[in-house]
Amino acid sequence: MSSRSESLMKKPEIQKNVNLASLNSMGVEAVAGEFIEIRDHRELAALYENHFFSRYSPLVLGGGSNMLLIDNPLQPVIKISIPGVHFDKEPDSSDTVLMRAGAGENWHQLVHSAVELGYGGIENLALIPGTAGAAPIQNIGAYGVELEEVFVSLTALNTETGEFEIFEKDDCKFAYRDSVFKRELKGKRIITEIKLRLTTSAHRLETGYSALSNYLEEKGIKKPATRDIFDAVVSIRQSKLPDPKDIGNAGSFFKNPIVDSETYTRLLKENPGIPSYEMGGGERKIPAAWLIDQAGWKGKQVGNVGTFKNQALVLVNMGGATGREIYDHAMRIRDSVKSAFGVDLQPEVNIIGQSV
Ligand code: EPU
Repeated sequence: MSSRSESLMKKPEIQKNVNLASLNSMGVEAVAGEFIEIRDHRELAALYENHFFSRYSPLVLGGGSNMLLIDNPLQPVIKISIPGVHFDKEPDSSDTVLMRAGAGENWHQLVHSAVELGYGGIENLALIPGTAGAAPIQNIGAYGVELEEVFVSLTALNTETGEFEIFEKDDCKFAYRDSVFKRELKGKRIITEIKLRLTTSAHRLETGYSALSNYLEEKGIKKPATRDIFDAVVSIRQSKLPDPKDIGNAGSFFKNPIVDSETYTRLLKENPGIPSYEMGGGERKIPAAWLIDQAGWKGKQVGNVGTFKNQALVLVNMGGATGREIYDHAMRIRDSVKSAFGVDLQPEVNIIGQSV
């Protein structure tokens, strides 16, 4: 399904030499030669009509919370700030509601509004930094829930045809921190709106994650409501993840590696206490935080870059770090984990730069 309405186009303003330091959660200094803020999807249509996308491959920013800028981007930067939150009744279900959100909406604010209204499904995803439009790109997840579980569809501009296309869940090819928008369609679609299905009653609460169940038990909460889970997640995250407002970071820097059964058997023999999660087919997911911690990096600082004291998977800008410094530090960690455990770590954040 697609649509294009040329009569409804709006020309966006192009700004010159914009400092991106406050627009990326790592707090890295970088300057965009050309910067365009999009507040309405019709501005994207206008850019298309002006042949913008055949001349440039812009860097698209949401909340800037899952990227590392290594150099000044050479291409124009488009910041997606499309607002709007709507809740639509579902014609054939009184137990669910559809939430539509503009791609520029702050993710945590959405989670908060849903919880306030008594809607369930995304309470475990509280405090994840970033925007609604960025959420499907890496299929955000935390505390036993992934976005794909509530996802219905999204709208995105096809930058090659100028059409706004609808992607249903299957079209997105969601996997662990992954989707088609990180692979085949990377740089080819710009998400403008997402649609999620939330529960209005009979919520399916996910409390299996040990940090969560321990918290609820400690508080004596036996029958949690969505609000209790939201509060628990907020509290757990605040206790071990740094707030980007205080310390620059991009959440987990690496993905948790998934290893085959042979590698797992070897790792277990060499490290009897190694934590892991069963993935099916003999594969196991190993927490990268554990590997980095065991390799001696937790809480360690090199120059202006550090590994967070409460969570070894989070690289932090201790102040004034360049993107290159952070990248070099990440590669030192990757190499050290490789030589200690023979396991390859892959960055979870998007590395943006001309020379990597
Ligand atoms: N661990 C250590 N040292 C540490 C931290 C953790 O050894 O410093 C070990 C512990 O054994 C712990 C295990 O690693 O049980 C897992 O740690 P944690 O529960 O903190 O979760 P994670 O696997 O490191 C993932 C996500 C987070 C998400 C949490 C909670 C990835 C790459 N990261 O982290 O997502 O919040 O689970 O569900 O999957 C993000 O993607 O930016 C992010 C923060």
